[in-house]
Amino acid sequence: MREGTATLIRREDYTQPSHWIRTVDLSFDLDPAKTLVINKMTVEPNPEQPGAPLRLDGEDINLTRVLVDGEPVSFRVENQQLVLENLPSQAFGLEIRTTCAPEKNTQLSGLYTSSGGFFTQCEALGFRRITYFLDRPDVMATYKVTLKADKVRFPVLLSNGNLVEEGSLDGGKHYAVWEDPHPKPSYLFALVAANLVRREQRVRTRLGHEHLLQIYVRAGDLDKTEHAMNSLIASIAWDEHTYGLSLDLERFMIVAVSDFNMGAMENKGLNIFNTKFVLANPATATDVDFGNVESVVAHEYFHNWTGNRVTCRDWFQLSLKEGLTVFRDQQFSQDMAGSPSARAVKRIEDVRTLRQLQFPEDAGPMAHPVRPDSYLAIDNFYTATVYEKGAELVRMMHTLVGEQGFRAGMKLYFERHDGQAATCDQFAQAIADANPGSELAQRLDAFKRWYSQAGTPRVQAHGEYNAEHRQYTLRLTQTCPATPGQPSKQPFVIPVAMGLVAADGRNLELHLEGEALPRGKNTVLVLSEAEQVFTFVHVPAEPVPSLMRGFSAPVVLETELGDDALFTLLQHDHDPFNRWEAAQKLALRRLLRAVRTTGQTEVDEHFVVALRAVLRHPELDAAFKELVLTLPSEGYVAEHLEVVDPQRIHAARETMKLQLAHALHDDWVWAYEQHADNGGYSPDATSMGRRALANLALGMLCLDGATRHNPVWVGRTLQRFKDATNMTDRFGALAALVNSHAELADQALERFHAQYKDEALVIDKWFSLQAMAPEKDGQVFARIKALMQHPDFTLRTPNRARSLLMALCQSNPAAFHRADAAGYVFWADRVIEIDGINPQLASRLARAMDHWRRLAEPYRSAAQEALKRVAAKTDLSDDVREIITRALQ
Ligand code: ARG
Ligand code: ZN
Repeated sequence: MREGTATLIRREDYTQPSHWIRTVDLSFDLDPAKTLVINKMTVEPNPEQPGAPLRLDGEDINLTRVLVDGEPVSFRVENQQLVLENLPSQAFGLEIRTTCAPEKNTQLSGLYTSSGGFFTQCEALGFRRITYFLDRPDVMATYKVTLKADKVRFPVLLSNGNLVEEGSLDGGKHYAVWEDPHPKPSYLFALVAANLVRREQRVRTRLGHEHLLQIYVRAGDLDKTEHAMNSLIASIAWDEHTYGLSLDLERFMIVAVSDFNMGAMENKGLNIFNTKFVLANPATATDVDFGNVESVVAHEYFHNWTGNRVTCRDWFQLSLKEGLTVFRDQQFSQDMAGSPSARAVKRIEDVRTLRQLQFPEDAGPMAHPVRPDSYLAIDNFYTATVYEKGAELVRMMHTLVGEQGFRAGMKLYFERHDGQAATCDQFAQAIADANPGSELAQRLDAFKRWYSQAGTPRVQAHGEYNAEHRQYTLRLTQTCPATPGQPSKQPFVIPVAMGLVAADGRNLELHLEGEALPRGKNTVLVLSEAEQVFTFVHVPAEPVPSLMRGFSAPVVLETELGDDALFTLLQHDHDPFNRWEAAQKLALRRLLRAVRTTGQTEVDEHFVVALRAVLRHPELDAAFKELVLTLPSEGYVAEHLEVVDPQRIHAARETMKLQLAHALHDDWVWAYEQHADNGGYSPDATSMGRRALANLALGMLCLDGATRHNPVWVGRTLQRFKDATNMTDRFGALAALVNSHAELADQALERFHAQYKDEALVIDKWFSLQAMAPEKDGQVFARIKALMQHPDFTLRTPNRARSLLMALCQSNPAAFHRADAAGYVFWADRVIEIDGINPQLASRLARAMDHWRRLAEPYRSAAQEALKRVAAKTDLSDDVREIITRALQ
């Protein structure tokens, strides 16, 4: 049922289910047009809810029979629920037969077909599209699954757990029986029936257990699975080593599918992945892809404990598993990166993502707490807030109790809750209880406001140096803007990691007034009131405060630091994050000044000299240099303005980029020549950093050349594009040509398409590169409209749809926000069109308008009109309706 019918669901209304389902015996007769599902359950009344009717969820399925203990019974179907009354008061057997049509399932939720195979996606509410069930995460059962299908078309039959039987059947069919011994909620169920090949490896873990690891892909893709397998093996070792958590399955499978709404899914023992996050080899994937594969493989694997062994009581607790698992995958990727500098690079990238995605969310109509209070469509709450901000909450707990304390907390969490469906409160309680006396335990109730209050807190810092007493007082205050439904907030508990840097570059000893000993050169202050003063003694000279080191809390730090202080931090701070941050602030300041005044930036010599010093620095890593030399995004600039004119921001940023391309020309040449040649491809942090810096330099040189009609670097870029021996270098060169609007770009694009026409993931890149090119006189928008007609384009494959549409509407503000409103008209048409195919995908696209209220005219009125046009449709899905309604509220 597509048309939205749902009513608002509230966290406060949680009650236990009327019944428990203990065992499930599912059998599938798989046919793309009509699949028969027989579901035999053992059901137990919940003594807490005596006599309550059993209401089973179901959606888009045809019910053919219902038996209780083998006998037909009376039933009714109302509001997409199968209602059974007068049931036995003791445990009973319930059998339900339904059919569904996987090939018609374009929503990609439940059982669907992709490239001729069968796949499932059940989180959050997909299982009800397979059979009638208590489709909620606190109902956990053991599953036995029998799959029957045509042997030739679907040679591989997979489900969760262990394969216990397989064989041939009449009529060219075969079957397989799988049993999963671990009780699980229905959202972790999965099946796959398809024509796939696999890479497999046996591993022995520290405990001496043997496991079989398998990665299933389509026949041509086997040579792209090595990196995922290595990442999986590394993840298994890491979780054992770091948290003492071992793989609890004999067999662990990953399956790649090219039609998938999200990144991947942690189904017990049978993870199903978007191909984008499994397949990678040097010829077809970039360094960024390699990094993503590593972190998503780890993320899904880590869910086996944080998500599967302990799951969520209800969907409001989603961050219990997602925030914690993102934190774990971030930790893992940092450990894999190795050196302190490479770890810092990963941290900077994660913070950049948070600021790009979550800060705007927290400042807009969809702002919600990490543990939301209500929803219409739960799929709309798989957000940057629940995931990335949720991870920051876990990180803050980690900071407050320390590394060892956090491990002890995790241990206690599993001792208490293994096998249960738990809450965010219970997680925080376990971490605090394992660390009595810690800053977290002392302020747990106040800390938990992070779970219940939305919005990004602002921290203001004011420092004063008293030369006579050699004292430095730091006054910290905090506020938090109102968010929908939350006009005022109570203070947050904010860990402020900090240091003091002298003008000569020394990082000073930190000695707080009243404490016997200095704390070293780095400490964590805890800001828990609206305002607090910290006094440092024995401070030899006026320092520059380096606050929120490593981004120790998800807040906006409003400093009063002048340019000179920022230059000091950029040059001398021991904390790489704050060095990077200082450069971002210096650039941001200049961009904002330009946007607010003339619209044109004028980069000053001091800024250029400071950037040159970083670029040419003998000790800094290439990866870090690349981050420092990359300007803040247009979206990040917009975040700092009350009224947003996307065209003005674009113009200011493009001018600054061009000026830096010119002013640092010789330095870019140097950087390119030093980093362009890296021998054979290896996806390690050092060589990735070198390639990233070479690509940035090439982009700048190409831009400078194209603008001055100087063919030298444009020609070299084209040559680099042709000669490249890996996708990172090739795509970097192609991007340099496309982004500088060089005349040779079209020729290169054509050649690229011809070369990779059979590699879907590479063709996605080809689309999105063109859609994200810096807008110039409407050419990019025109090209996107033309690309919609390209024979390779389709709205039915989410990756492909996103490669053009999200690229335009979310990532290319200057192409999207047009004075003639054509971008908004296009957006509204696509949201409506996609809603008829795939509501989850449509609602993601719908969110591109979250920030319409802050737009300058004429954008604002035109955006509102487009939103109203979508809102006027009467047959919108719940997913899209929720987003549009909130935006217009
Ligand atoms: N649990 C998955 C992950 O983060 C995400 C699944 C989300 N699916 C959805 N339809 N909302 O690993
Ligand atoms: Zn997850």
